Amino acid sequence: MTEEKRKILIVEDDLGIRTQMKWALAEEFEVLAAEEGPKALEMFDRYRPRVVILDLGLPPDPNGASEGLAVLEDLLKLAPLTKVIVASGNEERANALKAVSLGAYDFYPKPIDPDAMRLIINRALHLYDLEEENEQLVKGQTSPLTGLVASSSKMMSLCRTAERVATANIAVLITGESGTGKEILARSIHDLSARSGQNFVAINCAAIPDNLLESELFGHEKGAFTGAVKQTIGKVEQAHLGTLFLDEIGDMPLSLQSKLLRFLQNRTIERIGGRKEISVDVRVLSATNCDLAAMMKEGSFREDLFYRLNEVSMHIPPLRERPGDAILLAKYFRAKYSKDFQRAPKSFTTEALAIIGSYSWPGNVRELENRVKRSMLMADGKGITATDLDLDLPADADSALIPTLRQIRMQAESDAVIRALALTNNNVSDASQLLGVSRPTLYEIMRTANMVIKRKDRS
Ligand SMILES: Nc1ncnc2c1ncn2[C@@H]1O[C@H](COP(=O)(O)OP(=O)(O)OP(=O)(O)O)[C@@H](O)[C@H]1O
Ligand SMILES: [Mg+2]
Repeated sequence: MTEEKRKILIVEDDLGIRTQMKWALAEEFEVLAAEEGPKALEMFDRYRPRVVILDLGLPPDPNGASEGLAVLEDLLKLAPLTKVIVASGNEERANALKAVSLGAYDFYPKPIDPDAMRLIINRALHLYDLEEENEQLVKGQTSPLTGLVASSSKMMSLCRTAERVATANIAVLITGESGTGKEILARSIHDLSARSGQNFVAINCAAIPDNLLESELFGHEKGAFTGAVKQTIGKVEQAHLGTLFLDEIGDMPLSLQSKLLRFLQNRTIERIGGRKEISVDVRVLSATNCDLAAMMKEGSFREDLFYRLNEVSMHIPPLRERPGDAILLAKYFRAKYSKDFQRAPKSFTTEALAIIGSYSWPGNVRELENRVKRSMLMADGKGITATDLDLDLPADADSALIPTLRQIRMQAESDAVIRALALTNNNVSDASQLLGVSRPTLYEIMRTANMVIKRKDRS
């Protein structure tokens, strides 16, 4: 597979260094170079490289201010995610620290070692990718509906249906297993509708005891029954002009079903103990994971109510029938919770992703969300593993999960490198001697394993 080389920009006034760096990095990256600030900004704006290596020792501007720092600020204004690595001589240490405080990704003391620089650039690109992916996922740009993440074709067509039905004032019955996202879909429909500026009022018919449900729905007047110490407005009225979401509608007792039906026919309610009829304008969405057809047959759900609620039906398939969605959702929740918990985003290991993709997710999206959330707190290594997710390898683990010899070798190599670096206090020369390889080879192994080490400043 040939991948396009990724662009980096070198800003350096010394022709010798510029040429040397270009030469050393050109094999791996598409290297752009500029010798002074305005040119650098122009090239940056045109090519938008994700990583910039910036010489802080650019000649100062006519007012004597640091040109390097000015360029840094301008670059970050144009594209805040850009990773700027500042290269500085010893005498510019103070400026280098200032640069980092202004948002530079890292600083690197001159003279520049191209091998180490390659490692830093790759690390910076990796971080850039993660951050960019996070931004997109958190914005929910992966589906046409805000906050609803999906990529499978079944969900995409469901999203399109949602867009179509949202604008019409029709009742939608949403079905699907527990945790598949019925409520989030109902909210999306509301958000897409002309009523989006008004209330979205949800009532969970299964969570409220039968004897309280009527008052919860329609409200009551003061003194209507023992304990009715003040007038209370019901959910239906609260949703006036907006959307009423009847969750777990299959759990509504028969007596209330007829009252609800009456409301849907007349569009007026009477609070319990009240005398006047109140007109209410709501759009009704409902959801259930019960088999309403079976319930109608046995007489526990009214058929006439069903047809009122089910002008359009939308069925959300279980997560196991939505190829690709589990992995996408896992990444979305990782991004979301790394933001919430203010943790650096960790990637999933390849094995963890394979398991996420093949697991059956009986608890659907809710289960996935909970596992990812917990794993963010558990993971202490470089990446989130299947163990952190508390997922076992399936008994019939397919061959994709059996590591190739190459993977085994790479893992062994990277384990040895980690040990050697730990033993030598991150001294790459000593570590390479210990391992009996050259420094470039060691850097290569580290690069392939996506490893970073804390550089010691050469003083
Ligand atoms: N496509 C999705 N994108 C992002 N988050 C989702 C998606 N689907 C579900 N979720 C999240 O998963 C959790 C469960 O979703 P939701 O409450 O909508 O499911 P449900 O079908 O109503 O479940 P239940 O039947 O148990 O009430 C919520 O935290 C929700 O935000
Ligand atoms: Mg729900």
